[in-house]
Amino acid sequence: MLFLSAMLPTLDPELRRALAARIRYYNEMGIYDFYRRPPSDRAVEIAAAPIAVDEEGIAVLQQTFVTGVEMSPRKATAVAVSRAVEENIFEVIALKPEQSVSDPVEALKIIREDLGDCTRCVLHKQGRKQIVFGVGNPKAELMFVGEGPGADEDAQGEPFVGRAGQLLNNMIKAMGIEREQVYIANIVKCRPPGNRTPEREECATCSPFLMRQIAVVKPKVIVALGAVAAKTLLAMSASMMQLRGRFYEFRPAGIRMNDRSNEPRWDGCKLAVIYHPAFLLRDPRQKGEAWKDLQMVMKELGMKAPKQNT
Ligand code: URA
Repeated sequence: MLFLSAMLPTLDPELRRALAARIRYYNEMGIYDFYRRPPSDRAVEIAAAPIAVDEEGIAVLQQTFVTGVEMSPRKATAVAVSRAVEENIFEVIALKPEQSVSDPVEALKIIREDLGDCTRCVLHKQGRKQIVFGVGNPKAELMFVGEGPGADEDAQGEPFVGRAGQLLNNMIKAMGIEREQVYIANIVKCRPPGNRTPEREECATCSPFLMRQIAVVKPKVIVALGAVAAKTLLAMSASMMQLRGRFYEFRPAGIRMNDRSNEPRWDGCKLAVIYHPAFLLRDPRQKGEAWKDLQMVMKELGMKAPKQNT
């Protein structure tokens, strides 16, 4: 493509990767429009071109460079990103199909349909019975995210229905609410064989669907249950001791916030990390710490714990 080769004759793969990462970072902060000041004060104008992909799989956004002139926001910048780069920048920028639907039930259905009979990672051929999508109030203020389905969840098609689920239900009750009021999902939607920890690759493949679910539900607070959920959602690695006990600002990665004027804008939410219920079953002494974390969440949501019957 002539336009591209004229514009980016020397962009090496490293630079492209860095550019993609930087743009993704800005996108995650809600910034989508950029313009570039040319190096000299001489006006440079490159003809506007529609989004296009050249023979090497390099995608180009519409662009115009004009020195010293205020850019109209949508005409602004140019980004060139190789398809070989692990992240496809258009995945980041484009609105997801469910984002044109205002009913969250319908929107979640669209995501479920998109997931289909998923074969995107190896878990589909490692004995899963069914995909465990997520359950609960599609307008929940509070969302719990676990690691992945176990045997009971795989059999019933619903997250947290086994022993860990019973404990999670009790924790939710202790907060003074019902399970049906919250939304519950997992990082991976298929049962890892033998309940092993999902691999990074599996989490990375599956979590974009969870990010879309989060963007539909628009919770005020997400509670990440255990290290896998925490590390995947926060894209950081640390111990549970380091991760819990505080709030993080969270925005679902890869999702462009929809600023349709007829809906209140949702700009992400708070995220807290607590011990996974399965861990608490193994080490009940940590329940007090988990309860402290849940009280922090309740305070944030303006909730009061019910009085205990003695
Ligand atoms: N553990 C999880 O992380 N998720 C479930 O759904 C069940 C157990």
